[in-house]
Amino acid sequence: MTTERILIASDHAGFELKEKLEHALEDLGFDVQDLGTNTADSTDYADYAHPLAQKVSTGEVERGVLLCGTGLGMSYTANRYPRVRAAVAWNPDIAKLARQHNDSNVLVLPARFLSEEQGVEILKAWLETPFEGGRHARRVDKIEIPDSNP
Ligand code: RB5
Repeated sequence: MTTERILIASDHAGFELKEKLEHALEDLGFDVQDLGTNTADSTDYADYAHPLAQKVSTGEVERGVLLCGTGLGMSYTANRYPRVRAAVAWNPDIAKLARQHNDSNVLVLPARFLSEEQGVEILKAWLETPFEGGRHARRVDKIEIPDSNP
């Protein structure tokens, strides 16, 4: 069985939780690629969302995790990329639904509003939940702007 690669990145507001989730992902057996930031010094979320979203958009890597203070800046940036479905999830139920109904391929966490324990629970729920397909596949197919992705 090949090890799944997963990407993770944050700005300064998500840095501390990112480091913890990185270890959780490694413990779960993932090949984690950390795209920064690597310190708690102030930085700009888009600089970290773009490289991660690009790799998911092209299919180079299937899934990724982004963290910033609210999750919003990271999600705005990542969702500009075709085929990226970046879901802000603040509890495990939202994370599960983001997978079941929306086939989310990027999990975005509002780090300033979560404990480590909550972050790990949300992450696990998102990783473990499959997409339901069916009527949800039809809806997900309609997300992309028509004729925007040749
Ligand atoms: C940084 O202060 C904060 O604005 C950022 O982490 C994020 O919450 C933006 O959406």
